[in-house]
Amino acid sequence: MVSETIEEKGPLYPDYLPFYDPLEKVEPVGPFEHDDPGHRADPSFPNLLKNASKVVELSPHCGTELQGVQLSDLSKEGLDELALMCAERGCLVFRDQKFTDLGFEAQKGIASHFGPLHKHGWMPHPQNGPVEFVIVYDSKNDLRIRKSWARKSPVQFHVDQSPETQPPGATFFCMLESPPGAGGDTIISSMTRAYERLSPSFRKRLEGLKAIHTTANPVMREIRDNGDSAVLRRGITRSIHPVVVIHPVTKKKALFVNSSYTQSIVGWDEEESDYLLKFLFDHINRGHDFCCRVRYEPGTVVIWDQRVTQHSQTLDYAAGSRRHAFRLTPLANVPIPSLVEEDDGECAKDEGRMMLNLC
Ligand SMILES: [Fe+2]
Repeated sequence: MVSETIEEKGPLYPDYLPFYDPLEKVEPVGPFEHDDPGHRADPSFPNLLKNASKVVELSPHCGTELQGVQLSDLSKEGLDELALMCAERGCLVFRDQKFTDLGFEAQKGIASHFGPLHKHGWMPHPQNGPVEFVIVYDSKNDLRIRKSWARKSPVQFHVDQSPETQPPGATFFCMLESPPGAGGDTIISSMTRAYERLSPSFRKRLEGLKAIHTTANPVMREIRDNGDSAVLRRGITRSIHPVVVIHPVTKKKALFVNSSYTQSIVGWDEEESDYLLKFLFDHINRGHDFCCRVRYEPGTVVIWDQRVTQHSQTLDYAAGSRRHAFRLTPLANVPIPSLVEEDDGECAKDEGRMMLNLC
């Protein structure tokens, strides 16, 4: 049941309410050289973990919660180490963060350590806040999110903005207010493990393939749902990316196709492409053994590395409950293809099959 008391109180962060301007335009962030902060990190994480009271793995293959660490107190070296740990674990969770109350410029400053911030084509930003802020707001007074998921499952694993030429890396999601009780969790899934879980010869088949990513579907939904008040700050974005990518720091391979933005496999007939993509999307959706689920409280900040994970909302709380968050989305490298090699040792690494003597 929706708590009327909480709703009547008004939002805790009115400066962060969403602003929809159908006439607004933004320029995309142009090509840039990406120097990943993870390259500079000390792999023993002395600065990141200096004040950590507890380090909790959320699942074997994805997610670590760092208790006692304040993002806003981290040095540049601490942020570099955060980039590396996030690349290794897929996502990091921080609770009770002062980050929430730092204000727009300081929040942008910390997130910008990881790359220039993305400017979204249709999601709202605060009225008097920078365009780089993506506001996620669901309340009885603003049902745009609910409307956009009507007649469609809200569980859609995706990479935020994969159609960019240089898609995002470590991405900040900061919860300002969450629904009373439970609900509105994010599920984050390891695309490194999703790749490793495939059989060796199937993995080989995927390497070298490329896929088309486009914002066409979400842009059409924005127009369908909001008509004249649709926000269309940029045209449709489209890129071709490798189906299997390599993380620039860890050098690990990861699946890089997602059901929100990946349209087709380059060079394949439509039926072939649909068949393969459906299999891969089903494989990701079934991957309860390589994902973690993050429950929010106000002041929770989750950082996920989009090059090695996908995530989904849950939207399971009562319609009309207030859920208010913002996202800052640093862009990163041009995706690095995993090249087909004669024998790169990947098949031999397949521990389960070797142990069971399966061929
Ligand atoms: Fe997302």
